[in-house]
Amino acid sequence: MESNNKGTSSLPFLLCANWKMHKNPDSVRDYIRAINKLPALKYPKRFIFFAPALTLFVLAEELVNSSYGWGAQNCHFEDQGAFTGENSPLVLKQMGATYCLVGHSERRQLFFESEEMVQKKVKSLLNHSIQPIVCVGENIKERKNKQSFQVVENQLSGILKNIDSLDRICVAYEPVWAIGTGKVAGVEQITEMQEHIRHLCATEGKTLHFLYGGSVNEKNIKELSQIPGVNGFLIGSASLDPLSFFNLAQNLVPAKAGI
Ligand code: 13P
Repeated sequence: MESNNKGTSSLPFLLCANWKMHKNPDSVRDYIRAINKLPALKYPKRFIFFAPALTLFVLAEELVNSSYGWGAQNCHFEDQGAFTGENSPLVLKQMGATYCLVGHSERRQLFFESEEMVQKKVKSLLNHSIQPIVCVGENIKERKNKQSFQVVENQLSGILKNIDSLDRICVAYEPVWAIGTGKVAGVEQITEMQEHIRHLCATEGKTLHFLYGGSVNEKNIKELSQIPGVNGFLIGSASLDPLSFFNLAQNLVPAKAGI
């Protein structure tokens, strides 16, 4: 990985809703219809929805010709084969997905995903022109032991090994201790980790897209969105209700909304 911090990302500011294993086809349909009925969003192009795999066909139907994007929370790296229970990146592409999360800490902890597996998924997604959002972050013990930078560095060097198009990668810093706990990372913690990640990943002329995730909500997004260089957020529980998610989007500072 080269060290160069110059340049700009080609993606817009993103508000990513990760619904995890919540919602069914009917509630996904109701959600999208509800959000479409709300008054025009100030910044409509920036919503990306990550629904459970069994409901993705609803997003594919409801978001045809929409300015909102959608994607899967995980995929396999092979297009097809004897991989019981897995999701094909080829089929995601055929369905119209434009994004996919990879290496979420819940996948690493609960489903034992290794950096090597995540690296193969990133490669496969890039081959299909699906935007990977690579999740990294330390746990509380690692933070207390002052190992956060090293942990994230190890994760990224494994995942981004032999991947030369770093400008096509989104990295989401999601400290495990901030996910679902109400303990959002501080401005300083996000800033210094962002600098570390950009230093590790930036390529000549362009920089990667940097997202933060972990207990982002309607109240704290204003402060968080003022952090220079943060290009978006990955939002779990505060994205489950369409009205809350809409309100959260309205609280972005104008500079980050591109106006
Ligand atoms: P919460 O916003 O519920 O903390 O979840 C964050 C997350 O895991 C998004 O991927």
